[in-house]
Amino acid sequence: MTPEVSVVAPTYGEAENIPLLARAVDAAMRAADISYELIVADDPSGDDTPSVCAALARELPVRLLSREGPRGLSPAVVDGAEMALGEFVVVIDADLSHPPERIPEMIAALREGRADFVVGSRYAPGGELDSDWGFFRRINSLAATILARPLAPLRDPMSGFFALRRGMIPARSSLSPIGYKIGLEILVKAGFGRGRILETPIHFRDRAHGESKMTFREQVNYLRHLRRLFHHKWPRRMELAQFCGVGGIGLGVDLAFYYGLQFLGLGHLWARGLAFWPAVTSNWFLNRVMTFNLRERDMAARQWLKFVVVSVAGFAINWGAYAALTSEVEWFDRHRLVALLAGVLAGTAWNFVVSDWLVYRRK
Ligand code: GDD
Ligand code: MN
Repeated sequence: MTPEVSVVAPTYGEAENIPLLARAVDAAMRAADISYELIVADDPSGDDTPSVCAALARELPVRLLSREGPRGLSPAVVDGAEMALGEFVVVIDADLSHPPERIPEMIAALREGRADFVVGSRYAPGGELDSDWGFFRRINSLAATILARPLAPLRDPMSGFFALRRGMIPARSSLSPIGYKIGLEILVKAGFGRGRILETPIHFRDRAHGESKMTFREQVNYLRHLRRLFHHKWPRRMELAQFCGVGGIGLGVDLAFYYGLQFLGLGHLWARGLAFWPAVTSNWFLNRVMTFNLRERDMAARQWLKFVVVSVAGFAINWGAYAALTSEVEWFDRHRLVALLAGVLAGTAWNFVVSDWLVYRRK
């Protein structure tokens, strides 16, 4: 008989916790009379997970997925969900930080059509967090939460405890799960409407056994992941914002060389002329690896040359706008800084549009 609910628990070295989790899930599901399966999506760590799961499988509906290849929480969840049979999928940490006894009410909300995505939330009113979270982890978690806010209207967008209909999980090819935040990834890519997301408060406990696998590297991964998700949601705005950010860095490089070369004894006109090159090169490079990094990989030298040509034209527009405004319009002559900014704006707009169109070509 196919189970109604598939509980997916990603694990990496959780042999001690898996039996506790399996029993707690079983008790919760029995009490609510829900048929289920527990999928342990394991990245083998050399511990007893295989034999522990085999022993459990004799009495409980536990299935073990032993992954191969690069390990990771998010890809493990995606793989686990792929072998799920249930109408609903619940993702839960294996270390008993998340309360399995809340699964039935999460399922009830989905079943009754009150929501499409239910999140167990530490920060919803009534939610709790065990106290030994140090100051640093709290601040860190808060910053990470605020950064994700525009993507997901949630108090706890980072939660690893969530439930949804299996059919609503986006196709694997559209997911690019890096790092820890598979819930956020699914939430953004599935595009649930505002009113369709429900947060239910939970008490987030310190893990039962073992240690967290959260590392500094995972935090960096999180920032990379966020950038991708923002890009997915607002591609043009993200490109424009990054292009302007890169331009700002370029201005810094420009000024550093302009002053640095004069400090070394060069005349200011020479310094001005030479500083352009490191600045334009830095802009080209950062736009290549950041702003437009999902575009076609063109040959570096050729792309650099195109970018230089576009930038020189952009500078001509910038200067030309300044010259035209100040010589033709009296007001601008009295407010030259405004004319300068208008020139920068026109030049940047040109640079962006033509870079987008010709320099960093779409695949
Ligand atoms: N398969 C697999 N592969 N599982 C992993 C991996 C991995 O590389 N890394 C971690 N896991 C599993 C752990 O075994 C555990 O069951 C679950 O994922 C959560 O990992 P923890 O290491 O316990 O993470 P945490 O407690 O620091 O983070 C939790 O809280 C965060 C919010 O503060 C997780 O729920 C995060 O998703 C959540 O954002
Ligand atoms: Mn944990």
